[in-house]
Amino acid sequence: MGSILGRLPAHLRPMQLTLRPQNRVFDLVPGRPVLDTALAAHVNLPHSCKGGNCGSCRARLVSGEIHYPRGVPLGLSEQECAAGYILLCQAVARTDLVVEAREVRRVTDVEIKSLPCRVERLERYAPDVMGVFLRLPIIEDFHFRAGQYLDVMLPGERRRSFSIASPPHDAGLIELHVRRVSGGEFTVSVFEALKPGALLRIEGPLGQFVYREPEPGSPTGAVILVAGGTGFAPIKAILRQLLESGVKRPIHLYWGARHELDLYQREWVEERLARFEQLRFVPVLSEPAGEESAHYRTGFVHDAVLADFADLSDAEVYAAGPPALIGALRSTLPTHDLGADRLYFDSFAYAPDAKKPGA
Ligand SMILES: Cc1cc2nc3c(=O)[nH]c(=O)nc-3n(C[C@H](O)[C@H](O)[C@H](O)COP(=O)(O)OP(=O)(O)OC[C@H]3O[C@@H](n4cnc5c(N)ncnc54)[C@H](O)[C@@H]3O)c2cc1C
Ligand code: FES
Repeated sequence: MGSILGRLPAHLRPMQLTLRPQNRVFDLVPGRPVLDTALAAHVNLPHSCKGGNCGSCRARLVSGEIHYPRGVPLGLSEQECAAGYILLCQAVARTDLVVEAREVRRVTDVEIKSLPCRVERLERYAPDVMGVFLRLPIIEDFHFRAGQYLDVMLPGERRRSFSIASPPHDAGLIELHVRRVSGGEFTVSVFEALKPGALLRIEGPLGQFVYREPEPGSPTGAVILVAGGTGFAPIKAILRQLLESGVKRPIHLYWGARHELDLYQREWVEERLARFEQLRFVPVLSEPAGEESAHYRTGFVHDAVLADFADLSDAEVYAAGPPALIGALRSTLPTHDLGADRLYFDSFAYAPDAKKPGA
């Protein structure tokens, strides 16, 4: 079949994507973003938010024509556009494409499932953060890797993403940390209407933000975990996996929040500090109130990492949280010699169908 299509004139066969430098060629699904069709063909290109915000799926368009049905995405600057870069999660092909993009090691050969689950319990961690514990059907296996996320399905096939805060070896309940977003369709309902016993439909596991064992022979310095707000959720899952599986590398946990109250599981971390000597914890407050500045590092969490590590060449950084934090880390850490392939991140972008405030 493929060879017959290959002999057809260009206007009769499906549009094709050629990926460089591997020179892999495959068919594009008309009308779908390039990333979707690549992932469906098991070509694992870098991505995170799939919403055009984080910039992780940026690639260079060598030839061909694309368009952005939802407008030029926020995650692409004018300069990048002018230099021929595109965002694969938003770009739809108009012609055959040749694209230069780094293919990443496949980390998640796990099946993505759509499952009903029951809310087992809700725990208020902070005024605007709810711990949501989900029980999956007993007969279903749900395999995931520490750091991955799931989508809660809303009516109309719309979805909201939340990271799984529990590691896979704690298979009992799935733990989520849901921050209330002012005017948010789903998160407000979690605080005002959701009750234990309620049913939700989820889809997952999703994402490539998972701990990767260092390649044999590569430097194994410190693991630096950076969380912004509820970005602590996937970081907690990775931290638990590292500590509970006996990894002995030094682990530095940085947690950025506005106030002390936002470090909603600080005591949980402090208990681990007493038990695991390779763990160091640096909470950083950006808007300290009253006495807080006397007890905490203050400022932005990425600045604290930069101030503490002049040389990051043998470190690995795992970061999760708001797009602004991820953007700041991506633009500043390389100046301290962190290679792009040693920064792993999950950017908590908003759902593409989120209504603008006041809309
Ligand atoms: C991969 C991934 C993992 C995520 N993991 C988590 C997690 O573990 N915990 C968590 O709390 N959040 C997480 N998020 C963010 C979360 O998905 C959104 O906050 C959520 O979708 C908001 O849904 P909503 O229906 O309440 O708001 P919507 O109705 O979608 O939005 C309402 C309004 O709020 C704005 N808005 C939406 N989300 C945010 C936000 N986060 N911050 C500021 N303004 C916002 C929208 O632009 C819109 O104006 C994650 C996002 C991604 C992409
Ligand atoms: S995955 Fe494309 S911009 Fe985030």
